[in-house]
Order: sequence, then structure tokens, then C-alpha cells
Amino acid sequence: MEELKHVAIIMDGNGRWAKKRGLNRSMGHKEGSKVLEELCLHAVSKKISYLSVFAFSTENFKRSKEEVDFLMNLFIEMFRKKFKELHKHGVKVVFSGRREPLRQDVLASMDEIVEKTKDNDKLVFNICLNYGGHTEIIDTTKKICQNVIDGKITLDDIDDNLFSKELYQDLPPIDLLIRTSGEYRVSNFMLWQMSYSEFYFTDTLFPDFHKEEFDKAILAYYERDRKFGGVKLEK
Ligand code: FPP
Repeated sequence: MEELKHVAIIMDGNGRWAKKRGLNRSMGHKEGSKVLEELCLHAVSKKISYLSVFAFSTENFKRSKEEVDFLMNLFIEMFRKKFKELHKHGVKVVFSGRREPLRQDVLASMDEIVEKTKDNDKLVFNICLNYGGHTEIIDTTKKICQNVIDGKITLDDIDDNLFSKELYQDLPPIDLLIRTSGEYRVSNFMLWQMSYSEFYFTDTLFPDFHKEEFDKAILAYYERDRKFGGVKLEK
């Protein structure tokens, strides 16, 4: 089986987790943030090189102001304080998404954690924040067109490899995509990067998706047969 290099997670079910306990939806996000830290450290110990997560989609701005504000403040708190442990373990944080219309204080906390962890080399932790898959492809297309207009590249230079490198982050393809909480959708997440991903869906809500659950997904991945459009070679 192909080495597991890049895992991506759609962290769904925080709201339902909270509701089941009679709590405010935001408490589900808070609990989810603790699980995320646990999973990131687990990925380091499993020698996974890239972990991508869907923290906030461009569509999530449609949620109540209270919930959006809570999430933005939680991001700041995580990046400024809680990510110290991740930094200690060699995690390099990068972001994917548009900066507009994120708040200045959120952007500042993102820039700080990127700068602080830029020389770490154990795991690249790609956080998709104010992210949309179509938007990423459109933004990348515009960037490449501009390079053609400026004469930096020619039309013939545009291929799979060049396109991948010009995306928000230059990452390898996603090997394993996990979505929690029993939803079977990709919700405009990393569309380019998931072209040959193995999908793992679980009913477990994200705040309950601890490292033992993560291990189950990793195990399932190693039991799959990846053919990349070809046929499996018999030994
Ligand atoms: C989806 O669950 C989850 C989100 C929109 C937010 C994910 C954010 C975190 C886990 C917080 C920590 C993140 C970082 C990067 C520090 P939902 O609210 O849609 O759940 P529901 O479907 O049950 O309503």
C-alpha cells in the first residue's frame, strides 16, 4: 500500500455534539479544538507528513454572528496559546483560504503562528480557514493567467504539476480524506487535491473523534487497494 503522507479531515458534528448535551453549539467547537490538537500530535507520532483540516468555509460566514465571533476568537486563542505544544513537537502551520473578509486580529494571529513555526519540519499542518475549493481553483487560475500575461510562463508550461504548485499551498495529493458525523459529502473542500483520495466516513461526531478513532481510519486506509486508474498488479 502507498505510504500515508497526507491526511485531510472535514471536522463535522461539533454543533450536534453540543446539542446532545444541552450545550451551546460553540461548546462543541471548543471541544473540537481540543480533539484537533490531540490528532495533530498523533499525526506527528505516526510520521504523517501533512495534515489538512477544514476549520471554516467561506459559507460558514452565513452562521449567526455569535457563532462566527466565537469561532474567530477560538482561532486566535488556539494560534496564540494552545499551539505552543504543536510548535514544540515540530509542527509547521500554514493556511489555505482568502484573507478577505477575515478580521485584522485573526489575520495577525495567523501570521504570527506561520512565522513562529516556519522552520519546523515534522508535520505540515494546513488549516483551511475562510476556504472554498472552487475559489482556490479560480484564484490559482487567475494567478497562472497573470504569469502568462507577464511573460513569466507560456501556455504550454501549464500542466498538472505547475497547477498544483500554484495552489494556496504546495502540498502533495490527499491520500486519505476523513469526514466525521455521518455526512457523505465533500462540501467544496480541497477539490483539486482529493482527485485520488481514499474516503473514510464515520458516524462519530468530531469532538468524539479521538486518536483511537484516527487509528481506525489509518488502518482502513492500509486495507484499501489504490489503483490510480490502472489495474492492480498481481504478485
Ligand atoms: C463543523 O461542525 C465544524 C466547524 C464549522 C468548525 C471546526 C472548528 C474547530 C474544530 C475548531 C478548532 C479549529 C482550529 C483550526 C483551531 P458543525 O458546526 O457544522 O456541526 P453540526 O453539523 O453538528 O452543526
